Amino acid sequence: MILVTGGAGFIGSNFVLDWLADNDETVVTLDKLTYAGNLNNLASVRDDSRHLFVHGDIGDADLVSSLLAQHKPRAIAHFAAESHVDRSIHGPAAFIATNVNGTFNLLESTRAYWAALPENERAAFRFLHVSTDEVYGSLSPEDPPFTETTAYQPNSPYSASKAASDHLVRAYHHTYGLPTLTTNCSNNYGPYHFPEKLIPLVIANARAGKPLPIYGDGQQIRDWLYVGDHCAAIRRALADGRPGETYNIGGWNEKANLDVVGMLCDILDELAPRLQGGSYREQITYVADRPGHDRRYAIDARKIERELGWKPAETFETGIRRTVQWYLANEEWVRNVQSGDYMKWMERNYSQRDAERKTA
Ligand code: NAD
Ligand code: DAU
Repeated sequence: MILVTGGAGFIGSNFVLDWLADNDETVVTLDKLTYAGNLNNLASVRDDSRHLFVHGDIGDADLVSSLLAQHKPRAIAHFAAESHVDRSIHGPAAFIATNVNGTFNLLESTRAYWAALPENERAAFRFLHVSTDEVYGSLSPEDPPFTETTAYQPNSPYSASKAASDHLVRAYHHTYGLPTLTTNCSNNYGPYHFPEKLIPLVIANARAGKPLPIYGDGQQIRDWLYVGDHCAAIRRALADGRPGETYNIGGWNEKANLDVVGMLCDILDELAPRLQGGSYREQITYVADRPGHDRRYAIDARKIERELGWKPAETFETGIRRTVQWYLANEEWVRNVQSGDYMKWMERNYSQRDAERKTA
């Protein structure tokens, strides 16, 4: 079986669902169910005997060690993290606790478990650490995309915490020989994306008649990848990745935020026109920029293509349309998410930006 951490979040739940869709190997999901973890994402496998959900923290050494001893995974796919850059600016402590200390604890427990395995199982074992392109920092328009050898220059508390975890994973391979793999992926989008992130937030706000908030000038560039393609890349890396290696994963889809929002509005205008007429573009609103906002990310994904034969299946045009269709068909999921802590966070993030903009 495999152990998946953070499997109730956006990418983790897509990974678990995709895994179980074409694989009989059992999955144990370990998730703390923070505001970003949602068991509804895994509702379709609730009664599936191949899936076990465990509510807990990757930083809980006793729990992690007992899970490893009990279930004896042949691999760990480590998704669990605090993942939102804006939240890391407002409150970095949780990012250090989970992304750094939590990953450290997971590595320590895994090292002890792995060291006691029989030789053939030790050799076959994999610890796959899911990381981000943000560890490389920000690119200028003329810079080439990030490769696996680009120097780390994290700029936000989130990316700094992910960079720290990447370094720990690297050290556990180098020092102890733990068979690790690290993947650094660009911006994902798709089903079950929590509506605090740009794409699902814009879809949800558009439908609710609310402003579509653009930070700064909206010309920041992200390299978008459909989540199913990211999950496929992780399965390839787990199967055939070389221990100790890192693989960049990206969609070759560099887009400015304003263009992404414009595309979302156009698709929504076509699939779910506004009752009062006019375009959703009329709801676009400029708000104060994110402090330290990285200008551009872009991934050079040639290594994983060359070595593991992975390529994205979706173009941005096909993936974004699928995504809008999913959100339109699952407005109940969005409504369920938009409650409690989420609403408090929205108020804190955007009321402060409005105040800053008015005083600027
Ligand atoms: P997410 O915030 O949607 O989900 C994170 C999940 O981890 C949630 O289910 C949460 O409950 C769980 N979690 C948080 N702290 C935990 C803890 N201490 N113990 C156990 N579970 C805990 O995040 P996501 O967007 O799905 O990202 C998953 C991973 O992929 C992260 O490591 C992130 O850094 C990385 N990543 C994300 C993107 C992206 O665009 N979303 C791109 C590249 C890499
Ligand atoms: O690059 C990979 C990273 O992508 C992941 O490691 C992170 O976990 C993930 O959250 C994502 O980070 P970003 O900061 O790029 O994603 P976000 O959706 O928050 O923002 C995308 C861009 O849109 C960014 O330039 C900020 C901007 N933005 C975001 C929000 C929420 C806005 O203009 N308005 C908004 O309201």
